[in-house]
Amino acid sequence: MRLTILGGGGFRVPLVHRALLADRGEGRVTEVVLYDPDPARIAVIGQVLAEQAAGHPDPPRVSVTTDLDEALAGTDFVFSAIRVGGLDGRAADERGPLDEGVLGQETVGAGGVAYGLRTVPVTVEIARRVGALAPGAWVINFTNPAGLVTEAMSRHLGDRVIGICDSPIGMGRRVAAALGVDPDRAWFDYAGLNHLGWLRAVRVDGRDVLPDLLTDDAALSSFEEGRLFGGEWLRAIGAVPNEYLHYYYFNRDAVAALRAAPQTRGALVLDQQRDFYARTPDTPGSALADWESTRSARESTYMAENREAAGAGERASCDMDSGGYENVALALMRAIAHDERTTLILNVRNRGALAGLDDDAVVEVPCFVDANGARPLAAAPLADHALGLVTSVKAVERAVLEAATTGSRSAALRALAIHPLVDSVTVARRLLERFETDFPQLGYLGGKAER
Ligand code: G6P
Ligand code: MN
Repeated sequence: MRLTILGGGGFRVPLVHRALLADRGEGRVTEVVLYDPDPARIAVIGQVLAEQAAGHPDPPRVSVTTDLDEALAGTDFVFSAIRVGGLDGRAADERGPLDEGVLGQETVGAGGVAYGLRTVPVTVEIARRVGALAPGAWVINFTNPAGLVTEAMSRHLGDRVIGICDSPIGMGRRVAAALGVDPDRAWFDYAGLNHLGWLRAVRVDGRDVLPDLLTDDAALSSFEEGRLFGGEWLRAIGAVPNEYLHYYYFNRDAVAALRAAPQTRGALVLDQQRDFYARTPDTPGSALADWESTRSARESTYMAENREAAGAGERASCDMDSGGYENVALALMRAIAHDERTTLILNVRNRGALAGLDDDAVVEVPCFVDANGARPLAAAPLADHALGLVTSVKAVERAVLEAATTGSRSAALRALAIHPLVDSVTVARRLLERFETDFPQLGYLGGKAER
């Protein structure tokens, strides 16, 4: 079985490769094609993978290419994990809004809109190429903003594109540990959009045990979301929100902490990675160890400003081991390839699962997965406050899709201005001008180019 990784020179690719090495099952991936437009980046990651595969019996064969069509032709699975505009782009997405006093973040708020405006045209083109060159392939989309990008691709690939994110799985694992239950025996009633979802119930042997957790302040203080949001707020909404909802519920605090930080998250990760990719070619034999230490430096500072704003302390060491990102991708791929029936929280078209959203809206909900793909399971309706946010943010996503597919600048302005975390049309207008200056690729807005 062949797996093509788009963004094959990306920093997290060794995690996927590691999961593949651990898979000894029948019909596993035997061939990995790394595609990246930057040959220097794939060369570095190729070195890490070679060191990682050393000593493993029968590792998958890894090949690299800078040609998209060659990477896609006849493949079985595509992992798309690209970053349009690179980490420089991320840093600019974050800085512009923070300078305006509103949230500047990779996927949430105005930064997520800018990132979406850059990324959708590129991912739509990829979807078209997959449709032409590998019509039977399944696309697993990691590319952020994951829900929006999955919806853009689904307009061309239907349900053959499935979006994934590690945050709901990570939360499920943490909540299960805080409750002292086996995560494999619990049913997590989680629903919303990517980076905008809520865990409403945890059913074990037919009983919802989440209320036990919400009344136990000691247990709540034992895990990330409990510390970020605090027991009082979790009891007020009767659910555990995705960690990204900290940017909404504690917006003023998060923005203040991010503005006070010496650099944005994107700028910090950019510095770390620039050094890593630059020095690796000079140090043969130590690429894997270098990658590990760079990764651990990155993981330990994840959402540091939010934790600081909430007084949540250090990140738990078990949350730094990862395991969500790559394992969910592998579990999904195996379920489809081998008809191994399972349930996973994924980003798929709604098809009636969640009330208040149309059938084509990509939502993040538990799905039944088998050889036929991923089907969303009927979910209880969202609470009114949650549905309000989800509806607003879906309208933002739809405006981004309109702008990206028609070139409408006014749709881009609307996307920014209606976002719940952008507080004035004046700010939206200035941000759009700034993003257009920062990113030449946004030249398509305003009908300057047909898309
Ligand atoms: C989580 C999210 C991803 C996001 C990543 C950012 O894993 O689910 O969607 O890309 O965090 O992490 P970073 O280390 O780049 O800030
Ligand atoms: Mn994510």
